[in-house]
Amino acid sequence: MTRSARSHPTADHRASTMKIAIIGTGYVGLVTGTCFAEVGHEVTCVDNDVRKVEMLRAGGIPIYEPGLEELVKQNVAAGRLRFTASTAEGVEQSQVIFIAVPTPPLPDGGVDLSFIEKVAREVAAAMTDYKIIVDKSTVPVKTGEKVAETIRRYCKAKVEFDVVSNPEFLREGFAVEDLMKPDRVVVGVAGERPVAAMKEIYTPFKAPIIVTDISSAELIKHAANSFLALKISYINAISVICEASGANVQEVANGIGMDARIGRRFLDASLGFGGSCFPKDLSAFIRIAEQLGYDFRLLKEVQRINADQMERFVKKITDTLWVLKDKTLGVLGLAFKQNTDDVRMSPAIDLCQRLLKEGAKLRVHDPQAMEKAKALLPTDGQVTYVADMNAVADGCDALVVATEWPEFKRVDLERAKRGLTHPILFDGRNLFDPAEMARLGFIYKSIGR
Ligand SMILES: NC(=O)c1ccc[n+]([C@@H]2O[C@H](COP(=O)([O-])OP(=O)(O)OC[C@H]3O[C@@H](n4cnc5c(N)ncnc54)[C@H](O)[C@@H]3O)[C@@H](O)[C@H]2O)c1
Repeated sequence: MTRSARSHPTADHRASTMKIAIIGTGYVGLVTGTCFAEVGHEVTCVDNDVRKVEMLRAGGIPIYEPGLEELVKQNVAAGRLRFTASTAEGVEQSQVIFIAVPTPPLPDGGVDLSFIEKVAREVAAAMTDYKIIVDKSTVPVKTGEKVAETIRRYCKAKVEFDVVSNPEFLREGFAVEDLMKPDRVVVGVAGERPVAAMKEIYTPFKAPIIVTDISSAELIKHAANSFLALKISYINAISVICEASGANVQEVANGIGMDARIGRRFLDASLGFGGSCFPKDLSAFIRIAEQLGYDFRLLKEVQRINADQMERFVKKITDTLWVLKDKTLGVLGLAFKQNTDDVRMSPAIDLCQRLLKEGAKLRVHDPQAMEKAKALLPTDGQVTYVADMNAVADGCDALVVATEWPEFKRVDLERAKRGLTHPILFDGRNLFDPAEMARLGFIYKSIGR
């Protein structure tokens, strides 16, 4: 369990109890539901994936998230957290219903809102008295209006309801910490009625609660994620200039990051960002802007810089190793970032696929994501999954770092050196010190240094 989550004083918050349903028990829904239960609310987590519900009921956890398993167990045991596959059951038992289903990208960059629409219909059909329906999924501006319209249309009981936008800002890998100690809580409403209930839900988290109109709340989420992606692409662009001029991007990031107006976070140069949120939220925001008559060229450039960063990294590898066909590369990391088993839109998986396309064989390791990666990487014997990170380099022509898991910093480099045909390491996450790598005798290529 993370220190922040453990140190959170929960018992004294358990005075107020709201009955809450969370529809969609994935990365966001499960962690949100669990943290709501942890502060005393009565939570029913709903998912239409029956196997997931069965697994959770049997004490299993479908995702890896530090601190989550313990918290789920405690709250299930305390009777505050339950799981069901029935939306109707969740709606019946709750005053407030959160929607946390996927909003995947469409081929044109827009957002597939069919999951949201389906849940809105299901919730509407089950409503028999006043409910607050809260959208926690990341959605385009104006989705709240559509959800309200859908519920009005499909609610046979014709009861009153309010729709609220409450975007989620958690980071995978730190989700429990982020949920328990949010920087702020954004609540977008169309009127005063649902505000008290939303405040009751969130008061135990002791964070500033910002109440806005629904459109502003929806925009806050896309604007926030786009800004963070922009920060990453900014430092990645600086890394290119650093490489060309012999400067060190980490020194530059430290130097500018200590300016409180800028901040050091999200200024780590790398092979690029990925994951289930940034790429899709960026394309969505560009598309939304386009539909509203604005060409968001700034964000298109953010995407381009990110794509270039991967190309540059692959080129570093091919420039050094020349032909990849019949070579074996060791890859450390498959998850899209540290502390998670999530491989959706992972740059590490993208990199593996590019290397495989060049004809390389791979020996890969990830502390948590190997099972999920198996579904995305070819099963034709070109990829070997290695349980011990220290054994990845054995028999390889080079070692590649693709995810910033902190434990990779402790990989046995002496052993790696012995295992490699020649000591070559490509570091897509700047985990190692170039001077130390030179001392150890490695040909070491990182980003912007
Ligand atoms: N993952 C993140 O870090 C993160 C952070 C902030 C916001 N978000 C947003 O939150 C939303 C959910 O993301 P996620 O990563 O939790 O997705 P996820 O895929 O991990 O979970 C979604 C869950 O919803 C379930 N589901 C789908 N349709 C359903 C239905 N009709 N009824 C009940 N359950 C249903 C799925 O089975 C799945 O378990 C997305 O809009 C995402 O953009 C994600």
